[in-house]
Amino acid sequence: MTKTLILLFHRDLRQSKANVALSAAAGGLPGVEAVDMQALYPDGIDMARDGEREAARLLAADRIVLQFPIQWYSTPALLKAWQDAVLTRMFYIAYETEGRRLEGTPLMLAATAGNTPDAYRLGGRNMFAMIDLLAPLRATAHRCGLRWSDPFILYEADKLSPEALGAAAGDYAATLERWIAGIPVSSFVAA
Ligand SMILES: Cc1cc2nc3c(=O)[nH]c(=O)nc-3n(C[C@H](O)[C@H](O)[C@H](O)COP(=O)(O)O)c2cc1C
Repeated sequence: MTKTLILLFHRDLRQSKANVALSAAAGGLPGVEAVDMQALYPDGIDMARDGEREAARLLAADRIVLQFPIQWYSTPALLKAWQDAVLTRMFYIAYETEGRRLEGTPLMLAATAGNTPDAYRLGGRNMFAMIDLLAPLRATAHRCGLRWSDPFILYEADKLSPEALGAAAGDYAATLERWIAGIPVSSFVAA
């Protein structure tokens, strides 16, 4: 069985509804492991201390999901710290032994947002489309040779009824199943 690694970056999962629901649904799939990065690194990720362990975690996976809530039109700080510590090590310091081996791994983003899909369009309330706000991560994937897939986006994540959240979590699991099976996923929007 292949291994799908979900790195979950949420400031406090005890306060989460959406990301907890999504990761619970995904974690129930065979071969899928979700890792709560904030719980592992409450004081931040350090390249010298944590880089080797996190590089090994990535290299053991067949595909990688970065899951996070949108914060200030961007990612939580820990995801940026993870890039600085782990990807810098793998692609600038240990490219031959680590970065090169990660190339070709499929990557998917799974993001939750408080706002509506309509707010995320060019000229809309948030000025930009979500896919444009995610461009730095797409550029990072390109730089690291990771195979980009359309992201899974859950809008209005704070306002969903338990039923709607349950349905979104089911859609997330179904999207991952298709992706794992090698079926191309088109951008999924739930709200
Ligand atoms: C500090 C902070 C910044 C946020 N910035 C945004 C934002 O820029 N756009 C947006 O749509 N939602 C924003 N939100 C809302 C979160 O994306 C939303 O609460 C989260 O996705 C819900 O997921 P959870 O239930 O797992 O916490 C922000 C929330 C916080 C706490």
